[in-house]
This record gives sequence, C-alpha cells and structure tokens, in this order.
Amino acid sequence: MTTHTIAILGGSGFVGSRLCARLARDGHTLRVLTRHRERHRDLLVLPTVEVMEGSPHDPATLDPFVAGCDVVINLVGILNERGHNGSGFERAHVELPRKVIEACRRHGIKRLLHMSALGADAEHGASHYQRSKGRGEQLVLAAADLNVTTFRPSVIFGPGDSFLRRFAGLLRITPLMFPLACPTARFQTVYVGDVVECYARALDDPRTWGHSYDLCGPRVYTFLELVRYTAAVSGAARRIIPLPDWASRLQAEIFEWLPGKPFSRDNYLSTRHANVCSGPFPAIFAITPTPLEAIAPYYLGKAGKRQQYERLRGRES
Ligand SMILES: NC(=O)c1ccc[n+]([C@@H]2O[C@H](COP(=O)([O-])OP(=O)(O)OC[C@H]3O[C@@H](n4cnc5c(N)ncnc54)[C@H](OP(=O)(O)O)[C@@H]3O)[C@@H](O)[C@H]2O)c1
Repeated sequence: MTTHTIAILGGSGFVGSRLCARLARDGHTLRVLTRHRERHRDLLVLPTVEVMEGSPHDPATLDPFVAGCDVVINLVGILNERGHNGSGFERAHVELPRKVIEACRRHGIKRLLHMSALGADAEHGASHYQRSKGRGEQLVLAAADLNVTTFRPSVIFGPGDSFLRRFAGLLRITPLMFPLACPTARFQTVYVGDVVECYARALDDPRTWGHSYDLCGPRVYTFLELVRYTAAVSGAARRIIPLPDWASRLQAEIFEWLPGKPFSRDNYLSTRHANVCSGPFPAIFAITPTPLEAIAPYYLGKAGKRQQYERLRGRES
C-alpha cells in the first residue's frame, strides 16, 4: 500500500478524529488543522499525526499546512451559522472549498476528498445548509485538473456523535415529557466507522475520481423512532410528544435565538425532504453498512456508561 502525507481540514471533529485513527492505522502521515489545538490533544497520541493551529481561511495558515502533502481531505462543515442570512454557511461550505482547490493547485496536490452531505443541492435545497453544501460539492467536482471524490452521508452515528447523544442528554434533563419537533422527518443513519472506511478505501482508487457517493445505513427511521430508541437505550423513560408542523416551526424560531442554537429555522427546513438514499451502499467500497442497533447501546446505554467507568478506573489505578 502506498503511504501518503495527508492534510485533513476538519480532522478534529467527530468524523475527522475517527478518520485520523483509521488512516494512521494504514501508516499515512497526517496533518490536522484546528482553530483550538488545546482542545484536541487526544489526536496527538496517534502515531504520525501532527496537529497545527489556525484558521483554514487564512492563506498564511492554509499554504504551509498543505505544503508537502500529496492528498487533502476537507471535512469542514457547520450545522448552524452565527448569523441568520446564510453567509456563515457560504463561508464554510463554498468559500473554503474554493480556497482549498486553489491551495491544492498552488502546491501541485492532485488528490482531494471532500465531505458533502446527503440532500446537498445547489438549486433545490430547502435550507442554506443544503444549498451551500450543494454549491461546494459542485465546485470541487468541477475542478477537472484534480482527482476529486465527494461523499454525501445521511446523519452519522457513533461514539462521540452530536445527534443521538444530544437527544440522550436532553431526554435525561427533561422532566416527564419531551416535545419533539419534526417527528415525521426521515433519516437513514450511517455508522461513522463505515464512513471513514469509505475514505480509506477511496484514497488510492482511481475509479472513485470525479464521483460522489451517497452513504446510508441499512434502515430508514423517522425522527420519532430515533428519539424513542435513544430514550429506550439510554434509560430515560420520558413521554415523547410529537409536535405538529406549526409548533415545530415555532420551536425552531424560538430556539435559534438561544445560546448555541440548539435548533434553527435552517435545521427545520433541512428536514423537509427525506434524508434517505435512493439505492444501496456503494458497491465499490465492499462494505455492509452497520445497523444502528449494533453500535448505539455501547455508547448511549448503560453498557456504554459502564465501559466509560471501567476505562476511567483503569486510568486511575
Ligand atoms: N455528523 C453528521 O451527522 C454529518 C452528516 C452529513 C454530513 N456531515 C458532514 O461531515 C463533516 C464532518 O462532520 P462532523 O460531524 O465531524 O462535524 P464536527 O464534529 O462539528 O467537526 C467540524 C470540524 O470542522 C471544523 N470547523 C467547523 N467550523 C469551522 C470554521 N468555521 N472554520 C474552520 N473550521 C471549522 C472544526 O474544527 P475546529 O477544531 O477548528 O473547531 C471541526 O474539525 C461536515 O462537513 C459535515 O457537514 C456530517
């Protein structure tokens, strides 16, 4: 196997840290750029990983970051922006990929793997998130002088995810009843381990150049089913109240003004179309997608808590 020197933007996040662990296992040399190096000291324990600090938007950071690499992976993405007019999404999902393409050209880097999202659609996306992700994807696929592969996963689950774990946390602190917006929204959740495996297998496979891959798990769930399952597995017995559409929208309008924007109008709009794949998992990767039920109990449930406890005990003794 050829080993590469790979620059990973967004390598400090949920997917990125899993991807770093997977690629480090194959002996690749990795560079990760983060705006907060101190928060990601865990990455430093991986062999062959160098963590650099700075903003990828700054050419004085991006250029030295990619210099000497032969592959760039861009995982940077946001679910919510600071403002409300779409400019934050544009910056993260369109302007940054443009800067990454230019940096690849300046440094003679030919291989680019890019993270888009299922539902990304420059013209018909319902939300700023989906339209900006679609424009970013179009942009990288149009870079004909680079060997580009893009990935479009549905919601990704796994230890450290922000989706199911967030609901497990909210359910735990909500007394008795839990009002749930967009209960009929549909998702085909995919395991983070399968997503990063696709990156690892695509890396040296020229058949993936110029292609975009939808990535989904084996089953479609409504949002209500997912939250009920999370409640059952995490032992938070709450009555979940599915909200009608008008109340879901109202909740989004209120919550987007709360600190951390736990839910926004843009998130609400992203749920308008089913987040499901139209076909099976891409055969080229030879992966059987992992069911949610095979993984979630280990990080949401009591077994997960016991494992964490045992790990902590192990560290302290
Ligand atoms: N998680 C999912 O369910 C899911 C589903 C479909 C697609 N995706 C896509 O997959 C990618 C990774 O998702 P994730 O769940 O791993 O996200 P995450 O945990 O939130 O990580 C996001 C990463 O992007 C970087 N980042 C965020 N905002 C940035 C900004 N304004 N400028 C520079 N860097 C920024 C962060 O770096 P710092 O260390 O500097 O903060 C972090 O490394 C994203 O593109 C996302 O849209 C995710």
